[in-house]
Amino acid sequence: MTAIGIGADDAALELKGVLIEHLKEKGYEVQDYGIKEGADYPDVAVEVAEAVARGEHERAILCCGTGLGMSITANKVPGVRAAQCHDVYSAERARKSNNAQVLTMGQRVIGPEAAKTVLDAWLESEFAGGSSAKKVEKMEAIDRRYHGAASSS
Ligand code: RB5
Repeated sequence: MTAIGIGADDAALELKGVLIEHLKEKGYEVQDYGIKEGADYPDVAVEVAEAVARGEHERAILCCGTGLGMSITANKVPGVRAAQCHDVYSAERARKSNNAQVLTMGQRVIGPEAAKTVLDAWLESEFAGGSSAKKVEKMEAIDRRYHGAASSS
C-alpha cells in the first residue's frame, strides 16, 4: 500500500497524533500533511484529497472537530470518496460498499481508543465489488457530469 496520507486542522491535532502513532506501530507508512499557518479544514482537506485523486495515496485520513467539514470538502474533489465514520460498522461499509479512499473523524466526537478501532476496521476492509461496483460507478458518472473525468481508484 502507498503511504497513508493524514491531515488535520487545529481542532484535531491530538487525534491526528494518536492515529499517526497507532499507524506507525502497526507498520504503515504515513505521510503527515502537518499544519500550515492559517490553514482551515478546507485547505487541508483539498490538499490531501487532491493527492488521493492523483493516486499518491490509496488511503487517507482527515481529522477536524467533527469530521464533517473535512468530508464535505474532500468529496468535492473528483474521484474522491470520503466517509465520516465514528463506528466500526460504518467504517467497514465505507470500504466494502462505497470504496471510500478517505476516512474522516472528529476529535470532538470520538475518543482516541474508539478512533483507533474505527481506523483499524476501515483499513482492514476492502471494497466488495459485485453489486456495489455499479453503485460506485454511478457516483463516478456524477463526478464526470459535473467535473469531467474522475479517477476510479
Ligand atoms: C473548527 O474550525 C471546526 O469547525 C472544524 O474543525 C470542523 O469541525 C468543521 O467541520
